[in-house]
Amino acid sequence: MSMDQPTSRQAAARVVGLLADYLEFYRTQPFGRVEISERTSGLLDGLFAPTAEDLTAIRAELGDCQRCALAEGRTNLVFGEGSATADLVLVGEGPGFEEDVQGRPFVGRAGELLTKIIAAMTLDRSRVYIANIVKCRPPGNRDPRPDEIATCLPFLMRQLMAIVPRAVITLGNVPTRTLLRTETGITRLRGHWHRLALPDGRTVDVMPTFHPAFLLRNAAKKKEVWHDVQLVMDRIGLKS
Ligand code: URA
Repeated sequence: MSMDQPTSRQAAARVVGLLADYLEFYRTQPFGRVEISERTSGLLDGLFAPTAEDLTAIRAELGDCQRCALAEGRTNLVFGEGSATADLVLVGEGPGFEEDVQGRPFVGRAGELLTKIIAAMTLDRSRVYIANIVKCRPPGNRDPRPDEIATCLPFLMRQLMAIVPRAVITLGNVPTRTLLRTETGITRLRGHWHRLALPDGRTVDVMPTFHPAFLLRNAAKKKEVWHDVQLVMDRIGLKS
């Protein structure tokens, strides 16, 4: 099988994703209802069941990753953590010093603030999933380079396909520009919904907002972030 060929699971997922969009369109039309039998809905659930095993398999495939130069300087690969069935995934840029030491995302000062933002959403870290665009710390906390992002991104996409969240929050410029494939800056993109197409044909709603590290330096911007996360709460059915 060539590298560009989808696997049969990806192909099946794409077909079912298109079918789901088609049925959703008819469901929302005034002229009738579309009934899905229990058997069909069970089949759909089975195909897309987001299981911890999926994430475990992705982590296993990364192994002691040496796919890019970031491997040289890292202490720990930071895969991501949280619920494998989360409605909400938060995506940062890449591990910093503390994250590299502990092998966990957002555990430094910016992470403390992110944890408070998650709590303000009436959630906690175990109920969301937190990941980064790159899984290894860029030296001196520089921005990850395009080749490093390109190497790592397929694994994040696979994590998103395994979790099937209802919304993704991108934190700051790097994850926002990367996932939305744009050069536009965070100030213009935040506060509005965007759509990310996953390789399996599904889509996920994306809300960009400011990075918590930026908020630590610009406390006045917290009200914009609160505005953005309220939109997310509304979208995933949480009361603000
Ligand atoms: N900043 C990020 O973007 N990600 C982390 O995990 C920590 C800090």
